[in-house]
Amino acid sequence: MKVQRTIQEMRSLSARWRRAGRRIGLVPTMGYLHEGHLSLVDHARQRLGRGAKVVVSIFVNPAQFAATEDLAQYPRDLPRDLALCRGRRVDAVFVPESGEMYPSAAGAGAYSTFVTEELLSRTMEGASRPTHFRGVTTVVAKLFNIAQPDLAVFGAKDWQQAAVVRRMARDLNFPLDIIVAPTMRESDGLAMSSRNRYLEGDLRRQATVLWRAIELARARVGGAHGPLSAARLKGALERLIQTQPDARLDYVEFFDPDSLVPASRISAGCHLALAVFIGKTRLIDNARL
Ligand code: PAF
Repeated sequence: MKVQRTIQEMRSLSARWRRAGRRIGLVPTMGYLHEGHLSLVDHARQRLGRGAKVVVSIFVNPAQFAATEDLAQYPRDLPRDLALCRGRRVDAVFVPESGEMYPSAAGAGAYSTFVTEELLSRTMEGASRPTHFRGVTTVVAKLFNIAQPDLAVFGAKDWQQAAVVRRMARDLNFPLDIIVAPTMRESDGLAMSSRNRYLEGDLRRQATVLWRAIELARARVGGAHGPLSAARLKGALERLIQTQPDARLDYVEFFDPDSLVPASRISAGCHLALAVFIGKTRLIDNARL
């Protein structure tokens, strides 16, 4: 497995592979890998078939964190990540430093170019974290330019992120396929996330309320004879979340899974997403109803 630290190294490796007729799959991550990330590697390999190369990028992207967020504390463990990638037969890992991705060398001036998606990124995560998606689309566009993949795989756990990235790739004519792979869950339903490591003691138990909210919504929609009122269903989920002493609801939204347009009447096929603080940790989840 190759470990590429500079843009130059990653670019020449991709160029060499492309000249040799290899297809390339990219799995962008911020590291602290878990089974959810590794399942994205499997998806890339399955979609591309034999002889393809799979690249995992590991970069805690400062541009997608607000000043008040957890950039400094975000969990990191590169040796462990590299071992996990090796175990999954990843072909190359791209691990740039921050200054490599966002140079501001004396004389060269500050980094000043960003990519923004201006429709799908406005609601939900975009409303709660106004500069977040600008950071995501910027770094993902850069990673696409650097790794030159034929395909990139994103997790369904960040449903809105996947929709925003897909739109960006279409609008800016990136010549690649975007694949969205299913959310991996712990046995009690909690969606796998690097941030779960912040959940100590009873907070870990309380965190299952996100999954229980999804199950409650599914049961209500499944048991209804017609469309349900979004406001009433939201109320029921809010009450469930309030039963947990350290849980605070940020948002719960129902929407069309492709356009992300909010729905006021809920029936099967509608999508649900929610963000909940468990203590200081902000968790997100989503599901089709
Ligand atoms: O989902 C993530 O881990 C990040 O948002 C991504 C796509 C790697 C961009 O930094």
